[in-house]
Amino acid sequence: MSIQLVTTVAGLHAESARLLSARRGASQGLVPTMGALHEGHAELARTAVEHNDLVVASIFVNPLQFGDAVDLDRYPRTLEADLALLEEQGVDLAFAPSVEEVYPGGEPLVRITSGRLGEKWEGASRPGHFDGALTVVAKLLHYGMPAAGLPAGSADAASPGGLPAYRAYFGQKDAQQLALVRRMAADLNFPVEIVGVPTVRSADGLALSSRNRFLSPDEREAALVLSRALRLLEERANAHEPLDLESALALVESQPLVELDYFDVVDPGTLEPLAENCRETPFRGDALALIAAKVGPVRLIDNMPLSS
Ligand code: PAF
Repeated sequence: MSIQLVTTVAGLHAESARLLSARRGASQGLVPTMGALHEGHAELARTAVEHNDLVVASIFVNPLQFGDAVDLDRYPRTLEADLALLEEQGVDLAFAPSVEEVYPGGEPLVRITSGRLGEKWEGASRPGHFDGALTVVAKLLHYGMPAAGLPAGSADAASPGGLPAYRAYFGQKDAQQLALVRRMAADLNFPVEIVGVPTVRSADGLALSSRNRFLSPDEREAALVLSRALRLLEERANAHEPLDLESALALVESQPLVELDYFDVVDPGTLEPLAENCRETPFRGDALALIAAKVGPVRLIDNMPLSS
């Protein structure tokens, strides 16, 4: 079946209700995106299609999460290619609203605040970014919610109350955003299951990102040091060795085209740095290694879940 494009909230509600009801569907998935889609987004969409009877992907470049008007203007808009990629994965509906549709009264006076979890790491270099991202995610989660009142017997085990199950899909690549969205859904009782989908990497290890297209060939080569440093930590964690963050740090700092912002090992839920002794004694448990750096004009982030 070919993908359907809707641009209004009313259209999204009408079409998703119609399709879910026609299929006697028991579950609906939402894949929020800003477009400029790549294989990482394709993986989100494929996972959602595997899990759900109906899948909606949103394409909306959210002005609220850009600190700089130049960045917002520069963000690639590639609707035709995005629709083709989503259709290939089996997505049913693409929701691509205008800014006026999402923010009809202009910038919202009330926003979600990301709190302490949003102030560190990415939040420290991009003030207001996570408040803007969470505000639009809250709205998108509401827009993408399945309509109530589907035929009796259509609900699956994930929705014992008789309503369709509702799941939303976010990449683990944006680890802090994922942690914040999980906390928002849990802390504010959103009726949605948040699913994190593993980072997709190119064969040489670079995490896929819409920003990679702005790297020159030399910068792209230099950027590989980020995933190499993360892999070093992963190998040590898997071998139950001390993580020795310092030597991984030295590897990154040896690359002159890379200007490191942060590199640390944190608790995956709170994103607080692990106690010093966990880095120096044999590694056990779960952690997340986070890294961010500027490579040429491009700010890149990457991370690696560590488990042992
Ligand atoms: O990760 C993104 O692409 C965006 O931050 C999101 C979640 C679509 C909100 O605009």
